[in-house]
Amino acid sequence: MKILVTGGLGFIGSHTVVELQNEGFEVIIIDNCSNSSVKVLDGITKVSGNKPAFEQFDLREKNKVQDFFKRHDDIEGVIHFAASKAVGESVEKPLLYYENNISTLVYILQQLKEKSSSNFIFSSSCTVYGQADELPITENAPVKVAESPYGNTKQIGEEIIKDTCKVTPNLKAISLRYFNPIGAHPTAEIGELPIGVPQNLVPFITQTAIGLREELSVFGDDYPTSDGTCIRDYIHVVDLAKAHVVALQRLLQHKNTSNYEVFNVGTGKGSTVLEVIRSFEKVSKQKLNYKIVGRREGDVIAAYADTTKANKELGWKALSSLDDSLSSAWEWEQKVSRQK
Ligand code: WQD
Repeated sequence: MKILVTGGLGFIGSHTVVELQNEGFEVIIIDNCSNSSVKVLDGITKVSGNKPAFEQFDLREKNKVQDFFKRHDDIEGVIHFAASKAVGESVEKPLLYYENNISTLVYILQQLKEKSSSNFIFSSSCTVYGQADELPITENAPVKVAESPYGNTKQIGEEIIKDTCKVTPNLKAISLRYFNPIGAHPTAEIGELPIGVPQNLVPFITQTAIGLREELSVFGDDYPTSDGTCIRDYIHVVDLAKAHVVALQRLLQHKNTSNYEVFNVGTGKGSTVLEVIRSFEKVSKQKLNYKIVGRREGDVIAAYADTTKANKELGWKALSSLDDSLSSAWEWEQKVSRQK
C-alpha cells in the first residue's frame, strides 16, 4: 500500500517514514528540501533497509501537485508534514507562512477530493490552544486566538480540512496536535537538523553541550510554576511518529467514528525548562552552561496533553521518558558533530 509523506525528509517526517516502512507500507516522499537535506534519505534507508521513493518539488506549484497525483493514482493515504514551522519567523514573514502552509494544503486536498476514497493525516500543533484555561489539555479545549501566524496556519488548516470533509464523504482525515517533539532515532541515523540558530529548547541545549553555542538562555524564571520556568510536554519523536502510523491505520481500517477527528499527541506529563536541563545533565553526565534571561514574547506558561482520547481510541501511548528522549538527542548531536 503506497503512502505519500510530504515533508518526509524533515525531523518528524523522516521518523514517520521509517515507522511506516517498518509496518510494511510503501512510501513516497515529496520534499522541497528548503528546511531539510536529501542526505536524510540515506539515513532513512540505513534504519529501515528500504529506500523510499522521493520527488523534490515545491507543493506551492499547483500544476506539479496535479501532475504528481496523475502519475501516482495508487496512493492510499497522505501524511502532510510539509510546512514552515518557526514561530518567530512567521511573525516577521506572515505571507510566506500563509502561502506555504495554506496553499499547499488546499492543492493536496483538491486532489484527494477527486479520489474514490482517501485518507489524510494532518500535522497540527498544541499551539492552537494558546494558553489553555485547564490543564492537562483535552481535545475539547477551546482553540484560542493564535499567538503567531504559524499557529494561525495550523488553526486555519484544521478548519479547511474539517469543512472539506463535511462535503466530501469519501475523504477521511485526522489532525494530530503535537506537543513538543524532541529526541532522535535510537540508531542515531536520523534526528533533528535545525538550520542556523535553533529556536527550540532541546537542540539549543545539545548544541550548547557539544560546544557549538556559548550558553543556553532560559527565557524567564518568573512564571507561576514550581521553579518559575515554563512547562511543556516533551514527546519522543519516535513515539510521535508511531502515532501517525496508528492514526493512518485507523482510517484505512475504517475504525474512525467520523470522517474528521482530532487527537492530542503528547506524553501527558509536563516538565519545566529547568527540569529538562537537570535531566539533560543527568543523561549527558555534564553541566550545562545556561543563564536566566527575560521572558520570550508569545510563550505560554504551561501546556501538556490529556492523552486519554489517543490512548483509548488509537490504542497508542508515548513510551519514552524525558531522560530517554534527551539521551537520544544527545547521542544524535554527538554523531552529527563527529561527521562535521
Ligand atoms: C520550549 C520552552 C521556551 C528555547 C514551539 C511551537 C510548537 C512546535 C514546537 C513546531 C519554552 C524555552 C526555548 C531557548 C528557552 N513547533 N526555551 N530557551 O515554543 O513550546 O513550541 O516549538 O513544531 O508548535 O510553538 O517550543 O522548544 O521553542 O520552547 O528557555 O533557547 O523552552 O521559553 O518555555 P515551544 P520551544
